[in-house]
Amino acid sequence: EGNRALDIAKLAAQTGHITLDDGYANTGSTASRITFVDGEKGVLRYRGYRVEELAERCDFTETSYLLIHGELPSAEQLEEFRTNVRQHTLLHEGMKQIFAGFPPDAHPMAILSSVVGALAIYCHDSLDPADEEQQELAIYRMLAKMPTIAAFSYKQSIGQPFIYPENRLTYCQNFLQMMFAVPSERYEMDPAFVDALNLVLILHADHGQNCSTSAVRMVGSSTVNLFSSISAGICALWGALHGGANEACINMLEMILNDGRNLGKYIDKARDSNDPFRLMGFGHRVYKNYDPRAKVIKEVCHRLLENHGQEDPLFELAQELEEVALNDSYFVDRKLYPNVDFYSGIIYRVMGIPKNMYTVLFALGRLPGWIAHWREMHLAPNMRIHRPRQVYMGHSERDFVPLIKR
Ligand code: CMC
Repeated sequence: EGNRALDIAKLAAQTGHITLDDGYANTGSTASRITFVDGEKGVLRYRGYRVEELAERCDFTETSYLLIHGELPSAEQLEEFRTNVRQHTLLHEGMKQIFAGFPPDAHPMAILSSVVGALAIYCHDSLDPADEEQQELAIYRMLAKMPTIAAFSYKQSIGQPFIYPENRLTYCQNFLQMMFAVPSERYEMDPAFVDALNLVLILHADHGQNCSTSAVRMVGSSTVNLFSSISAGICALWGALHGGANEACINMLEMILNDGRNLGKYIDKARDSNDPFRLMGFGHRVYKNYDPRAKVIKEVCHRLLENHGQEDPLFELAQELEEVALNDSYFVDRKLYPNVDFYSGIIYRVMGIPKNMYTVLFALGRLPGWIAHWREMHLAPNMRIHRPRQVYMGHSERDFVPLIKR
């Protein structure tokens, strides 16, 4: 795709210099064949396929196969993949005790990272990344158990009984059922919600060397197991500058709505370099154009709301805010556009998903991407532990001062 790079691996040995690049704005940490992003043109492709086309024509499990294995599956391969994932959806019963120990106000992202980390306790026959069979088993387990853990986190937080996975259902149907069904009533699933969830998960499935994926690779490069590596990725995703922006964005829109829809005030705050306020769901390290994911998500918001005969004041407000920002010189000059997190919360609101679960859904979507990168790293012939250098700026050597004299 014409990406060009300077290989500086031997620079220190040859010149005594390292390179310094705060926040890795200009540093490639790896060569990868998984996802292509052209931030200037607003292009995103998984394994060469445009994300918009995959979102329209694939389901999430098929996309997961593509990301992890590099090719679209044949009908047979896909069926085998689905069956293998289905076989691992249950959690060890002992894990319910872990959930029971969490306080009701725990954030589901904290629960998710903890319980995914705990899979390493229960699945110790699939911890060795160097063993191909164990690696494969860990991947199926991870894909299968993540929706169960995510839904149980929610049920725990609202004090409802856990709903066990039902393996005749699709990946997305199963998740919605585990989230919203209760044992005392029949759960009627809205097919439009299943479709919307499928699409949103596909749009989140990978994005190159973003913060959480880099965390998964960094942690995984020590050769620790998949569960621990993914748990690290979930922690990284939670932050408001990354996946946590979807929850933060809805909080921001509510704040603006409750403050008399005073858009000008918040645009001014975002422009003010002395004010920490930023427009959440706006801007991106790579995209200097409209994020293609945000475009699709915005269309889905329109479709879902229309189909359900609803209006959402937050969606109206978000569109007004976008309009104002895209015509403001501050945002124009810096090429700041809505990103994937700007409108996704609106879809979740229509579906009845609570705010503190938004980033959990991002995690569910990003999981196959994390797995694909972890696997790609382990298959690479030149895999090395990730160990960046630093430019030391502290004291030079000094004499120790005993406590009594300090
Ligand atoms: N609101 C106001 N100003 C902004 C924003 C924003 N949302 N984003 C960037 N800027 C300004 C920033 O202050 C800086 O201005 P100046 O050049 O005058 O100092 C300039 O634009 C460049 O920003 P940066 O912080 O150097 O850019 P970055 O690449 O380090 O950060 C970002 C990217 C996504 C963290 C940032 O745009 C941001 O904080 N956005 C809001 C949070 C958000 O929506 N995050 C989700 C990202 S997309 C999905 C994901 O990765 O999870």
